[in-house]
Amino acid sequence: MPRPLLQVTGLEAGYGSAQVLFGIDLAVGEGEVVALMGRNGMGKTTLVRSLVGLANRMAGRIEFAGVDVTRFPGYRVARAGLGLVPEGRHVFRSLDVEENLVATARSAAQAPTGSAEGSAREPWTLSRVYEFFPRLAERRHHRGNQLSGGEQQMLAIGRALLTQPSLLVLDEATEGLAPLIREDIWQTLGRLKAGGLAVLVVDRDLRALSRLADRYVILDKGQVARSGPVSDLSEQASTIERHIGVA
Ligand SMILES: Nc1ncnc2c1ncn2[C@@H]1O[C@H](COP(=O)(O)OP(=O)(O)OP(=O)(O)O)[C@@H](O)[C@H]1O
Ligand SMILES: [Mg+2]
Repeated sequence: MPRPLLQVTGLEAGYGSAQVLFGIDLAVGEGEVVALMGRNGMGKTTLVRSLVGLANRMAGRIEFAGVDVTRFPGYRVARAGLGLVPEGRHVFRSLDVEENLVATARSAAQAPTGSAEGSAREPWTLSRVYEFFPRLAERRHHRGNQLSGGEQQMLAIGRALLTQPSLLVLDEATEGLAPLIREDIWQTLGRLKAGGLAVLVVDRDLRALSRLADRYVILDKGQVARSGPVSDLSEQASTIERHIGVA
């Protein structure tokens, strides 16, 4: 694996006193794409939320770019370079596309300089996001509630990119989208990977994941049930489909 960017060790987490995650180990290397899978309710979103302080972290350690962020509030994890595209997208419905994009943006000058690769990457600006997503440029003065599901998803990704992440975390980014739009999102992630961005992606589309990801992790009842190189996904498709509930 390349140099670890995100390193989760023995993470126990949940909501209030209800524990959902039991000793999760997970790593994402610089520039690497890791697929996080598992049936409904197995703890994928809780894991993602734990990374940014939105679930109760009970034990274990979360390291990002060599810094212990276990106790960091969400904005500090974001500042360290973790860009979140949350489940459900959370686009501001009454703000237009551009307002949504700049609401949480951070200029490149504020980006972390800790990682050599990170500082070598081209910073994200509004115009670069519009170049990357021409559809958002066309819709720049449309409000969030006037956008299609696919456009909202692009907006959620564009917004995360403008925080200058070195790791993009997407929770069910293709959920509820038409097949052609899904394919657009997968292509987008492919382009981001080619640009050197690390990605942790929660999804259930095995075919798309096996094209994009380097490794996979499957959660079962809050524990890592399987993990390995993505080549396993095709070799052991039926076992894995059983694990993630698509068979
Ligand atoms: N805010 C919450 N408060 C209490 N329990 C929660 C909360 N959110 C989720 N849970 C519980 O935590 C467990 C894991 O849920 P989580 O949302 O992490 O699963 P998931 O793998 O993301 O599922 P899905 O595929 O449906 O998105 C479930 O038992 C769920 O009921
Ligand atoms: Mg979820």
